[in-house]
Amino acid sequence: MNVNYAHLFHAGNFADVHKHLVLTALLMRLSEKPSPWFYLDTHAGEGLYTLAGQPPPGRSEFESGAEPIFHASSDNPIVRAYQFLLNRFNPEGRLIRYPGSPLVAASLARPTDRLVATECVPERARALRKHLESWSGDVHCRDGYEALGAFLPPREQRGVILIDPPYESTREAEHLLRALPRSLARFPRGIYVVWHPWVNPAFVSGLRRRLKTLGPVSFLDWQTTRRQGLRGSGLAVFNLPYGLATSLKPVWESLKDMYATTLGPVEFVQTEPTRMGAATRIRKTVP
Ligand SMILES: C[S@@+](CC[C@H](N)C(=O)[O-])C[C@H]1O[C@@H](n2cnc3c(N)ncnc32)[C@H](O)[C@@H]1O
Repeated sequence: MNVNYAHLFHAGNFADVHKHLVLTALLMRLSEKPSPWFYLDTHAGEGLYTLAGQPPPGRSEFESGAEPIFHASSDNPIVRAYQFLLNRFNPEGRLIRYPGSPLVAASLARPTDRLVATECVPERARALRKHLESWSGDVHCRDGYEALGAFLPPREQRGVILIDPPYESTREAEHLLRALPRSLARFPRGIYVVWHPWVNPAFVSGLRRRLKTLGPVSFLDWQTTRRQGLRGSGLAVFNLPYGLATSLKPVWESLKDMYATTLGPVEFVQTEPTRMGAATRIRKTVP
């Protein structure tokens, strides 16, 4: 288990925006039906991050992540729901705090919905408990992959499982690929969202080849033209609800111009499971 990774230094970066927009869209979709949903966050982090803890202005990751969307005007319902969430934690009108995935989910949960978050670092789990205090949600300080066995299948029979590991260890993908098939077998109807970085193309293609053998998986990517560091953010989603990729297309469309200045040219690629159709590309290049 690798615990060196501190999300504080990356909180609110473009990968967080990508992941949390998709999470928002998924939970909004599940909330369209009155029956309760379940949310499991296996690598939950601290839940709320004070962005002043990041490097000095000009070098902070949120400046090319949550900041542009926080200040943008949009009439897209998914973007607006996410902006509403950012505003809720930043009533001063300045982006000072960034809500992590457990708080994104908690903010969208109705009284009957149920949240479980696991975080293996005790002080981070304690911080998360504190940040979730005024919401309902159970926090467990334990291994997230074990939690998949412990909490699935949920009694609600529908829900989202976010698996967002730090990938600091070379064995992370092995842990993931060992735990996922068992989870899919226990709860085949669950919507599993697995985040992975775009750093090394060989790693990504190897991981994806193996993920594809496990079930109907869609890939949602936010790619940049950066040559160093985090080049893109990848999400592998098992059981993406019907029509959700279509609902997300205008979101990505609206983000292209928003991020051209801070991130450079960005491209969004959505690949649905082969039995459902071919890849959809939305491309934006700036001179
Ligand atoms: C990328 S951060 C999580 C960010 C969070 N999901 C979000 O979107 O706001 C990864 C977190 O996983 C924790 N972690 C690492 N390995 C873990 C494991 N095996 N089980 C549970 N938590 C783990 C780390 O301490 C870190 O806080």
